[in-house]
Amino acid sequence: MTTSQANAYGKLGEHDVLRVGFGAMQLEHADLADAVKVLHRAVELGVDHIDTAQFYGPVNELIRTALHPYADRLQIVTKVGAVTHPTERLVAAQKPAQLRAQVEENLRTLGAEHLAVVNLRRVDTPPGITATGDQVVDLDSQLAELIALRDEGKIGGIGLSNVTLAQLRQALPAGIACVQNLYNVLTRDHEDVLAECAEHGIAWVPYCPLGSAFDWLPSVTGNPVVIAHAERLGITPAQAGLAWLLGHSPATLLIPGTRNPGHLADNVAVARIELDQEATSAFDALAQDAPA
Ligand SMILES: NC(=O)c1ccc[n+]([C@@H]2O[C@H](COP(=O)([O-])OP(=O)(O)OC[C@H]3O[C@@H](n4cnc5c(N)ncnc54)[C@H](OP(=O)(O)O)[C@@H]3O)[C@@H](O)[C@H]2O)c1
Repeated sequence: MTTSQANAYGKLGEHDVLRVGFGAMQLEHADLADAVKVLHRAVELGVDHIDTAQFYGPVNELIRTALHPYADRLQIVTKVGAVTHPTERLVAAQKPAQLRAQVEENLRTLGAEHLAVVNLRRVDTPPGITATGDQVVDLDSQLAELIALRDEGKIGGIGLSNVTLAQLRQALPAGIACVQNLYNVLTRDHEDVLAECAEHGIAWVPYCPLGSAFDWLPSVTGNPVVIAHAERLGITPAQAGLAWLLGHSPATLLIPGTRNPGHLADNVAVARIELDQEATSAFDALAQDAPA
């Protein structure tokens, strides 16, 4: 393992950002003081890319409480395509007018005039909710609305989430800043989408980079190969799994989520960690054993 400053920064659209950002979803159930502490600490540690969503309950308001007025260098990225629902938690909200309303709502709750990037979260296939009926919406009509919002200056860039290679290719003429799909060292569907991002200078921002807290996803920090190499290298299993992602493609930016300030510091440090060849090869081989 080596530490390096050289590859610590990457591109999110026009912006240079530390390659380890912060995914705010885990703050949904944090109390106010803990959430504010973690958000302050993230920025102190150099995080300049925060991923959120209006449908993460109070999270936008927590970000506003902790960090408003926002530093120019801080890129706040949100996602649209679903809204909270009183009984079903989340429902699809994919129609162009609904996407616009969600952008406006994110701006309001974040107290922002501009969102760095807005990810269109498609819901064609799991994980998560899937669209039916009139919520099955043509991608081009959604992109047209997002382009209009970008032209109006409300959003800086358009991102995609939960998309196939064909959908990414269809969207390329709109100018895509990033793609956010489920991907980590153990769950490697979408390698084709990653490759397309790398080819077009689009940031690849895998969600659930540690396997999240969901019980249906394999846990990166619980994997024995990851644990063994982390021990050998004197880093934590989370750092080993995240470092593999950064090393696997220069297009990758990370948004691990945590409520724990110690975990946060470990995760941010990964921007300057490179795995050795032994760990890289062992982790490369893990996907063959991982459940589909
Ligand atoms: N586009 C989408 O559809 C979509 C879907 C899901 C998520 N996201 C975004 O992606 C972000 C990341 O995904 P995620 O939060 O679901 O999952 P994740 O980052 O893969 O994992 C979070 C889990 O890992 C633990 N953890 C984090 N750092 C750790 C460390 N250093 N050591 C040990 N455990 C650690 C956290 O627990 P502790 O709190 O105890 O650290 C939490 O349980 C989200 O926050 C959200 O912004 C997007």
